[in-house]
Amino acid sequence: MKSIAILYIVLTVIKLSISHCYWSENCHYKYFSSKTPYQFVRGDIRDSVVKIKGCKEISVWGLVRHGKRNPGISFAQNILDAITLKYAIKLNHENGKGSMCAQDVENLYNWEADPNIFKNIHQITEEGYQEMFGLGYRIRKAFKNLLTSLDDKHYKLRSAYGDWIENGVKGFVEGFGNTSMIIEKPNASYDIIAPYEACGFYVKEVRNNIETFAEAYKYQNTSEYLAAKNRIQQRTGINYTLTKENMTALYDLCRYTSSGLNNILSPWCAIFTKEDIQVLEYESDLRHFYRNGYGNHINEIFGRIPLADLLESFKAAKIGERKKLTVYFTHATMMDMVYSALGLFKDDIPLNGTFRNPERKWKSSKLAPFAANLIATLNRCSNGESTDYNVVFYMNEEPLESICNKGVCSWEDFEIRLNPFINTTTNFC
Ligand SMILES: *[C@@H]1O[C@H](CO)[C@@H](O)[C@H](O)[C@H]1NC(C)=O
Ligand SMILES: *[C@@H]1O[C@H](CO)[C@@H](O)[C@H](O)[C@H]1NC(C)=O
Ligand SMILES: *[C@@H]1O[C@H](CO)[C@@H](O)[C@H](O)[C@H]1NC(C)=O
Ligand SMILES: *[C@@H]1O[C@H](CO)[C@@H](O)[C@H](O)[C@H]1NC(C)=O
Ligand SMILES: *[C@@H]1O[C@H](CO)[C@@H](O)[C@H](O)[C@H]1NC(C)=O
Ligand SMILES: *[C@@H]1O[C@H](CO)[C@@H](O)[C@H](O)[C@H]1NC(C)=O
Ligand SMILES: *[C@@H]1O[C@H](CO)[C@@H](O)[C@H](O)[C@H]1NC(C)=O
Repeated sequence: MKSIAILYIVLTVIKLSISHCYWSENCHYKYFSSKTPYQFVRGDIRDSVVKIKGCKEISVWGLVRHGKRNPGISFAQNILDAITLKYAIKLNHENGKGSMCAQDVENLYNWEADPNIFKNIHQITEEGYQEMFGLGYRIRKAFKNLLTSLDDKHYKLRSAYGDWIENGVKGFVEGFGNTSMIIEKPNASYDIIAPYEACGFYVKEVRNNIETFAEAYKYQNTSEYLAAKNRIQQRTGINYTLTKENMTALYDLCRYTSSGLNNILSPWCAIFTKEDIQVLEYESDLRHFYRNGYGNHINEIFGRIPLADLLESFKAAKIGERKKLTVYFTHATMMDMVYSALGLFKDDIPLNGTFRNPERKWKSSKLAPFAANLIATLNRCSNGESTDYNVVFYMNEEPLESICNKGVCSWEDFEIRLNPFINTTTNFC
């Protein structure tokens, strides 16, 4: 009996240590909050486009987050510091410290940073450009009857202010198949697709207010978070306590140096377990929730502004003043705000720093990955005698089922939902 028990323990220990090799695991958790490659979450509008008998699309409206960009200056410096950990990990491994698999250590040691990450601070990456290209390409294919040969007056493309967004739009039009398309100049002082940027109240009281992140800080003190940190220290054999900045830098190394397009995860991800990644994802969700989402009611107000444009654009299309295509390019913040204005992905209990609910609806990896997008199509339907309209919503190229019946809203539903957003004012700014 006793020897069976011992054998059982030995076997489980062996099994556990083997199951933690990252290189040989087949299924990795690939949701990295707002740094999730689009490829890991997207559908394909060419396959998912909703065909309704007797209806055809007459206008397409979209709000698109920029594609993958490089980290900003302060994060980049911390990432550079963190890279030196690969030498320590190798040394620790040779000295019998840490618990990473030999192959994972070797893959990490042989990994070289792409110098562009640190040269082109905060700029769109090649992958980000391709994410935009792919989206433009698939939209054009999915709605080819509507979107082939567009006159200038039939479309509108505008980017929010910022090189990394504006440069991505070039990828979109290239993928769309017409690099001569006119892209409106962004407005740095105010834009309906980033209205919070010009709002001093928001910047001061929400974005730059430490209180906004109180739940995220609280979460960093939970036993769950501390256990994740401890696991990383144990696995790598680090003999000092990782700081908040260290944790972010290591997480960034895993997510920024993974490749969505080639579906290759970074060797840096091997220092985390699936649960560690989920813990870091939740910490980011808390930040998004309070900075851009339901955690502060003014966030919903900003979300109404682009949605009012959507309603007006489709109302105009119904009476013939139609844009066949309207696409705006913006930030993660705006995506979060728009979903909040629509009342979607709202948990009954607000997210908090004491408990991570794995079943929560609010997940930044879905709401705001790189190239996140919300697309709506206006359909005209006729049965010979009468004409009717409906609106289909897509999120990241899948029907947005939670909004209306399988993503299809009747015109009445659509109007009832969005009409209150017309004339939204931000005089609290
Ligand atoms: C953690 O931060 C300290 C202080 O900035 C730095 O010296 C160290 O290299 C960092 N370690 C990692 C693994 O990022
Ligand atoms: C490409 O876009 C330009 C500018 O809008 C337009 O004049 C031209 O007709 C477009 N070409 C095609 C093939 O759609
Ligand atoms: C930018 O927005 C400001 C504020 O709404 C407006 O006064 C200005 O005319 C806009 N500039 C352009 C070029 O549209
Ligand atoms: C987290 O714990 C540290 C150390 O116990 C403490 O100083 C800090 O105030 C705590 N932070 C929060 C947000 O609870
Ligand atoms: C921590 O590890 C480093 C090398 O990995 C070593 O030089 C240092 O002496 C260790 N510090 C302690 C307190 O063990
Ligand atoms: C945190 O949220 C959970 C549900 O996710 C809830 O059960 C719990 O009461 C909340 N805790 C606090 C302190 O609000
Ligand atoms: C918006 O404002 C205009 C002008 O004041 C008014 O005519 C219209 O009824 C308002 N619409 C809504 C939905 O409040």
